Amino acid sequence: MRSVEVDLAAIRSNYQLLKNTFAPAKVMAVVKANAYGHGMLQVAKALESAGVDALGVADVQEAISLRMSGIKSRIVCWLILPSDLELAADHDIEVGISTFEQLAAVTENNKIHIKLDTGLGRNGFAEADLDRLVSELSGREVVGIFSHLSNTSETEDRVQKDKFDQAVDKIRRAGVAFTERHLAASAASISYSDFHYEMVRCGIAVYGLTPFEDRELPLALQPAMRVVAKLVNVKKVSAGQGVSYGYRYVTDKPTTLGLVPFGYGEGMPRISVGHNVLIAGKLYPVVGRVAMDQFVVDLAGDEPAIGEDVVIFGLAARGEPTAEQLGQSSQSINYEIVTRIGGRANRVYLNR
Ligand SMILES: Cc1ncc(COP(=O)(O)O)c(C=O)c1O
Repeated sequence: MRSVEVDLAAIRSNYQLLKNTFAPAKVMAVVKANAYGHGMLQVAKALESAGVDALGVADVQEAISLRMSGIKSRIVCWLILPSDLELAADHDIEVGISTFEQLAAVTENNKIHIKLDTGLGRNGFAEADLDRLVSELSGREVVGIFSHLSNTSETEDRVQKDKFDQAVDKIRRAGVAFTERHLAASAASISYSDFHYEMVRCGIAVYGLTPFEDRELPLALQPAMRVVAKLVNVKKVSAGQGVSYGYRYVTDKPTTLGLVPFGYGEGMPRISVGHNVLIAGKLYPVVGRVAMDQFVVDLAGDEPAIGEDVVIFGLAARGEPTAEQLGQSSQSINYEIVTRIGGRANRVYLNR
């Protein structure tokens, strides 16, 4: 009745395209939050078979579940508690260290990346912490030094990059050895070649989606996720028919209404009114409130067959609506749309 198709060949070829574009930098593929809703284990296996340089997750728990499922690639996680460090070492998981409390809990078997807060205001050592950081790092082995950008503007990104370079220099001059600097996620990797360093961390681009809200994606990436439900009801109604809770939509002429079994229980935003879905080659708007299990489309008098596919989003190249468009019609962005998709919808993996 509803399915989320995930094309693993698209994920492998997106990864390859990113690798070729950013070489010689390594590309960490970010698979946190269930691989942005695409299914973490399946995606990690596909990327491992494509020779992924490293996988990135937020939590140690996500990293451990990958290890327990047989993933052998490098895994880096960066949203941790000091108490996670022993577990991380036991499972050969590299960790981002953001605080002195975490640094104090590092064991000799931990592989660490030092996170610097260059302006985002989230995790990481601040500029004012640098002298103490350098002295506490002396004699330790460090794999990487990294930071994360705010993507506010090129000017802001470059201010962060300068702070990153200065901090890295200070750490290097103090004799602390490290092998990888990484700063850029998808947007900066694609926009600025001087932000690549030894590694970039790409999430959204691996899934074939754009990190940009205001300009075209300059790379030929393919969206990996396609969301399809079956049309379960078509009915003729007269003018003045209220539709769904609160009657946010009232028909202004006789029409046909189609019922689609995909609600906010599956991650369809409750406010996604006006998004166009594709049924039998034509686009129709979502009307009225999206409910927990279903939404209604105005079929403008057409009567497609019950059981017809309703493409909620998929591939623009095939004339299908996109995750970006669903984001726009619901005050959201493609990242949130794909990450929240799920509920009762089965994930179907193509091209394993
Ligand atoms: C630290 C870090 N690096 C990289 C990424 C990947 O970002 P994107 O999906 O924009 O490539 C994320 C995701 O939010 C992140 O938190």
